[in-house]
Amino acid sequence: MRIVTADDAAINEGGRRLAAGELVAFPTETVYGLGADATNARAVAAIYAAKGRPSFNPLIVHVADTATARRIAVLAPHAETLAAAFWPGPLTLVLVRKAEAGIADLVTAGLDTVAVRVPSSDIARRVLLAAGCPVAAPSANRSGHVSATEASHVAEDLAGSVALIIDGGPTPHGLESTIVDVSGECPVLLRPGAVTAEMLEAALGMVITRSGGDAAKPSAPGQLSSHYAPRATVRLEADEACDGEALLAFGATIPDCTGPSFNLSPTGDLIEAAANLFTALRVLDGKGVTAIAVMAIPDEGLGAAINDRLRRAAAAR
Ligand code: TXA
Ligand code: MG
Repeated sequence: MRIVTADDAAINEGGRRLAAGELVAFPTETVYGLGADATNARAVAAIYAAKGRPSFNPLIVHVADTATARRIAVLAPHAETLAAAFWPGPLTLVLVRKAEAGIADLVTAGLDTVAVRVPSSDIARRVLLAAGCPVAAPSANRSGHVSATEASHVAEDLAGSVALIIDGGPTPHGLESTIVDVSGECPVLLRPGAVTAEMLEAALGMVITRSGGDAAKPSAPGQLSSHYAPRATVRLEADEACDGEALLAFGATIPDCTGPSFNLSPTGDLIEAAANLFTALRVLDGKGVTAIAVMAIPDEGLGAAINDRLRRAAAAR
């Protein structure tokens, strides 16, 4: 890991490393982000491993401009209004994703919506242009720690897992972006931030719904409602798949299975398994089976996040 001052060389190196599938931390106007190519599932899985998050929370995709956002997601009229008023800036919009854009399922935790933001930080914008790909980036801190607002905070939390930290000094806002869901009929404020509810209402010319819960706390990460829920039932710790079941396998030794199956990682690699998880659930769920039988997955490292997601899927009745 290296900390480098945000000059041209550092920004170009950051862009090159992101495009190559590595993790790069960079400043935005809100907090430092831990970035990865959003179209590279393995790179995105490495974000979760680095943060030590015990669950998969959908991530924000950062792009350099609104035109690029339109290639990734549908900007309905309310979204266009908010983008015109607040982008670039500390506002994240939850939008209906365009499947053809190739955003990894792990970025959105399998959802049909994607959170997108165009940062106003000049360094962030130049990193995004240098990368040439949409960049998924949660706040660059270990899970449970406060968000990093200085390069040294990132280094303290993530030294072993990030290739490069681009140091742009302390971040101006020091608070995560406002998140508004504009994927449905009525805009919903999911997380308060520097763009306030009053500012949003003035731009939209309408009252905006606040999501339930404590407005002082960011909206509950990893909630079931913010995840794709399979239609089929999910059976855990399976050592066989019965008739009418699909098999979600892991590792080299798998039971016989006559129905559809998907091996998350034939070599037993948890990063690969995490990268494949949401795509696998979707593929198997699309086969019309009544249940998905899931082999046991080691509960260590990223396995804990995989098992958390699978337990939620199994309980989602
Ligand atoms: O200011 C920020 O937003 C910073 C900087 C780095 O840009 N990023 C950040 O990311 O705060 P993170 O991962 O810490 O927070 C992302 C939030 C989570 O609460 C997540 O649940 C929500 O965005 N989110 C992401 N995609 C979503 C979706 N499709 N639907 C609903 N919520 C979503
Ligand atoms: Mg965070």
